[in-house]
Amino acid sequence: MKDVVYHGDAYACLSQLEDSSLSLVITSPPYWRQRDYGFKGQVGWESTPEDYIGRLIRVFQVLHRKLRDDGVFFLNVGDKYLSRYGKSHLLQIPYRLAYHLVHSAWRLEDVIIWYKPNHMPSPAKDRFTNAYEPVLVLTKSRKNRYFRLCSVVKVRLQQTPWLHTAVFPERLVEELIKRFRLEDGDIVVDPFAGTGTVAYVVRKLRRSLNPVKAYSVMIDRGEEYVRIIMERAGVKRLVRVEEEPYDWEPVRDGRIPEVEPLEVKTCRYGEVFIADDHETFLRALKGMASSGFREYHREDALYFYGVVRWSIESLYYAHAVIHEGYVLRNMIVASDGCNWYPVFMLARDTTITPYRFFLDRVRVKPKTAWAKDWWSTDFTGAAVKDSLGKKRRTGVVSSVLERYWDGFPMIVAVSWGDSSSIEPVIHPEEETRVMEGLKFKCPKCRFNLDKPYDPEGDVRCPGCGVELWRTIDTAPLIVEPPIAATLSNRPRIPARKSLVEKDLTKARNNRRGARSKFRRLDRLNWGASPGARKTIVGEYFIRVRLYKIEQPVVAMYLNLLRREKGLTIGRIVEKLPAGYRHTVGHWFRRDFGGSIPVPEDIPLLTKVLGEHGILRIIGKTALKLQTVKTSPKGKNPGDYIEIYKPVMLKRHLQKLYLPRVESEHKPFKHR
Ligand SMILES: C[S@@+](CC[C@H](N)C(=O)[O-])C[C@H]1O[C@@H](n2cnc3c(N)ncnc32)[C@H](O)[C@@H]1O
Repeated sequence: MKDVVYHGDAYACLSQLEDSSLSLVITSPPYWRQRDYGFKGQVGWESTPEDYIGRLIRVFQVLHRKLRDDGVFFLNVGDKYLSRYGKSHLLQIPYRLAYHLVHSAWRLEDVIIWYKPNHMPSPAKDRFTNAYEPVLVLTKSRKNRYFRLCSVVKVRLQQTPWLHTAVFPERLVEELIKRFRLEDGDIVVDPFAGTGTVAYVVRKLRRSLNPVKAYSVMIDRGEEYVRIIMERAGVKRLVRVEEEPYDWEPVRDGRIPEVEPLEVKTCRYGEVFIADDHETFLRALKGMASSGFREYHREDALYFYGVVRWSIESLYYAHAVIHEGYVLRNMIVASDGCNWYPVFMLARDTTITPYRFFLDRVRVKPKTAWAKDWWSTDFTGAAVKDSLGKKRRTGVVSSVLERYWDGFPMIVAVSWGDSSSIEPVIHPEEETRVMEGLKFKCPKCRFNLDKPYDPEGDVRCPGCGVELWRTIDTAPLIVEPPIAATLSNRPRIPARKSLVEKDLTKARNNRRGARSKFRRLDRLNWGASPGARKTIVGEYFIRVRLYKIEQPVVAMYLNLLRREKGLTIGRIVEKLPAGYRHTVGHWFRRDFGGSIPVPEDIPLLTKVLGEHGILRIIGKTALKLQTVKTSPKGKNPGDYIEIYKPVMLKRHLQKLYLPRVESEHKPFKHR
């Protein structure tokens, strides 16, 4: 026996192999709608997830025939969100596939969670970042050679020299093989082999101190990959296989079965319910569909439903909430490092109301304190990126005009190439206090309003009972945090040309490799100041709005101002330049289609609507140091959480939706 590479379609190539000849299969087929491998007939571009699953089932039917009775099939599949207007829904593709495989002769022994400590970060602010992928462990019979170690493996993504972008880390393949009693003469197959990581590891095993004489059969339809596999794993034999047409049926997925509903109703803002067994979990899912459940909870409530002793049905039916008016936003893996259970994050499927999600309360705190000697950091030459306005632009700090107590720049002059400006800078440690520091008060009794506008709640002031939001005079007063007010209300000194020019020369000389001729401003590097690069290499400033304010709140004010002036949206469109026609309507909407006017729109809008605090507030901007290092706030937490005890996990997850929590700054073992 020798290693061999088959060039052709997985179905046709598998059909060529001898029945009951394969001991081990490790593979990762293309994920649905994820990547284009650039050839016809590739898996992954079926029109629906049901069609994709149907096709894989067909291919794996052939595989079933080829596998030995004691063989094992490790199947790694990724998931996908169904993108829709507003909130997207997690499709549960791996578990739907598993469910159908189980109903077509396969046995599911285990689901191994591959946690990636260096997973891709995600900017999503209303769900957890995906940090893991499942590996299904499938067999043909009870007498298989799989043995259970941990059901969680922690394997870092690995950089490879290959062009291929979906490569298995070798360590993952090794971890999987560890869970199989590999013997001399075994054949290990990957029907979607890509760069041949499996073949590479199998060859390594033959050459190890305790060699196992196993051999690999790699299949891929991509010409380029076949070449890579042969080179990487030193495979000499190549078999080209002709196309063989085959049909498949898209799968059909069921709804949540008719079980007795269990209505969990403990808090209007949301629920964390972790069932002990599958039956209770299913009853609770069913309970979410009842009208009593809906009426009890707020529209913007958030639900975490989990199950400790789960079955494949638990993972399968979580997807079916879409038919009951909910979306699945995350499948959180609750783990003790070795065992795990799923907790599903669910929200109402409405495009109008975003759900409450206080991500900052569960961010992963950086390990080291973020402090610097700002006095000796030279900021001149630092890049400034501005994508707030209609046109993106890049500038450089030409001079620091004022510093905070610790030396961090407070006011800087920025040269934008064709113009210059003076900009306030937010201190990194004051970021949350400033940007989230707006307060709203009742215009009559000055009562502090917790939430200025709650689409679900009362529009009356809890202090004096006056009806808010009737006219612009009854709209809440906006109060700026004192620290930000001093920063942003200082007179706007126009940048003096001489000053900017002089400092720009310094900025230019400050760049690294100052000998070469200065070419483009935006290519300017910084950090070569005398004394050190203890500077800000890899960091830059971005221009941001000074305050975070929810769009529906802004729209409430703008609509009242508009009505006060007796203007229709159409009339406002007429008063603004032609380019605004498609933008204006969005400013007045309170749903997902709404947007906040950008700072450069404010002077025009003020002319039309008149002066008002809200316009000043949304027009204010500042610079913020954007760091490529861990942000002082902590990184977005992943959907893999090392808290196993349901009571502890419940306390942790409740922070995401409860209006107030006891302590917001405890460190978490969140990944
Ligand atoms: C996710 S990649 C596998 C990566 C692999 N695990 C590795 O470590 O490099 C999926 C592979 O399936 C191949 N593929 C797509 N459609 C195929 C088909 N119909 N038959 C065989 N291979 C196919 C692609 O060329 C791609 O290399």
